[in-house]
Amino acid sequence: MENNMTAANLRSAHAGESMAYMRYRVWGAHAKKEGFPNVSRLFEAIAYAERVHASNHFKELKSLPGDFAVTAMAGFGLGTTEENLAGAIAGEDFEIEQMYPSYLAVAELQQEKGAQTSMRWALEAERIHSKLFSDAKELVAKGEDIPDTDIQICGVCGYTGLGEAPDVCPICGAKKDKFVVF
Ligand SMILES: [Fe+2]
Ligand SMILES: [Fe+2]
Repeated sequence: MENNMTAANLRSAHAGESMAYMRYRVWGAHAKKEGFPNVSRLFEAIAYAERVHASNHFKELKSLPGDFAVTAMAGFGLGTTEENLAGAIAGEDFEIEQMYPSYLAVAELQQEKGAQTSMRWALEAERIHSKLFSDAKELVAKGEDIPDTDIQICGVCGYTGLGEAPDVCPICGAKKDKFVVF
């Protein structure tokens, strides 16, 4: 990749998604301990979606040998499941409102088509994540778990859906067999 700004943004997005993956795994284990097994499953499923995003950004960087210092926004802190869900929503909303729109604007300016695709797929999935975490937070605030529904993740783009997997992914067009169920 010749454009350093887009490459730096992909590295930062890779780092941010990687940390989100880890944070959601920790918060998922904690939700299980607190008696919210389905919220735990939601964290595990969305962690997998973030892993897909981190992998897509990494692969888009192609061959870039060397070591890089990478800056990325990340939330820290292990609180109650309700607090952890608030942290998850804040992280998703930062990506939706600031990070991906500004990174996409640079990738468009620099005509980096592959980066635009991996960033747009992530942005669209994060919108769904923010909504799912918000719905979960409302129930957890009342001491209730979320419903025991299958959570589907597209292994290509990280699209996240409830119930049955769609025949075709609404974000990337992948077929049903690319979905992973949690
Ligand atoms: Fe997300
Ligand atoms: Fe997809």
